[in-house]
Amino acid sequence: MTILITAKDYKSTNLPTLKKQYADLIEKGTIPTLHVILVGENPASVIYTRNKKKFIENLGGKCEIINLPETISEKELLENINNISSSPDIHGCFVQMPLPQHLSHLDVGQLIPPSKDVDGFHAENLYHVMTGNFDETTLLPCTPKGVIKLLKEYKVELEGKDVVIIGRSMIVGKPLSLLFTAENSTVTICHSKTKDLIEKTKAANIIVAAIGKANFLNADYLNEKGDQVIVDVGINKDSEGKLCGDVDTESMKNKCHAITPVPGGVGPMTIYCLAENLLVAANNLRNK
Ligand code: GUN
Repeated sequence: MTILITAKDYKSTNLPTLKKQYADLIEKGTIPTLHVILVGENPASVIYTRNKKKFIENLGGKCEIINLPETISEKELLENINNISSSPDIHGCFVQMPLPQHLSHLDVGQLIPPSKDVDGFHAENLYHVMTGNFDETTLLPCTPKGVIKLLKEYKVELEGKDVVIIGRSMIVGKPLSLLFTAENSTVTICHSKTKDLIEKTKAANIIVAAIGKANFLNADYLNEKGDQVIVDVGINKDSEGKLCGDVDTESMKNKCHAITPVPGGVGPMTIYCLAENLLVAANNLRNK
């Protein structure tokens, strides 16, 4: 039987602690406060930001979504980012991606002070990921952090294991490869130009699909032993417009040891880690 690795299970064990940490900080007079900059009305981004706001408010934190018009100029956006991120009452800030085409060249993650970069995209925060020199006060990128947390929660062994990550993005594939490396895994990053992908995935203990292609990974990519762990980072729509991951989960049933579902797997862990990063940022700023 294939085990389902769910965020719900993770939360049932860990959410009470996060709630208590929020409550303790609020009692000391600091309400963790996040501002999310949303440019335009990309429907997926509107839903993601709403879910993030809801989660943080449920913990007792504050979250404002700053809606800026699709047509905003680069200069105005930069002014907004600067004004918001320099406010002492705001502990965390990020710009929801993707940005409209005329702004998509901007590396906005670098424009938010590293101490408030709850996305974990700033070069200074990524440097800690690179060196492996990080602890619970470091702002780690949310999705990679969430993947490692989920696997650890289910006691999936990482040390000495072969991990194949399909996808080399700055948000997931690259930083995740470094977090696995810090856990003493051996990592192969694959992408659209990789040769013999199936040979590589068959040889892996853990396969992470982070490519953004609906139902890309199916049972043909697995070995015959049924002992592999599959992590699905994808959030896509299938041909019928239904939410689906990068993994054809149906075809994997009973052919792997464990798998993260979509929805209910990595997605909610990203939001959980964002809320955790906000707490870290608020605590770090308070203790400065
Ligand atoms: N768009 C999709 N995922 C993310 C994320 O983790 N952070 C930001 N800022 N935008 C996103």
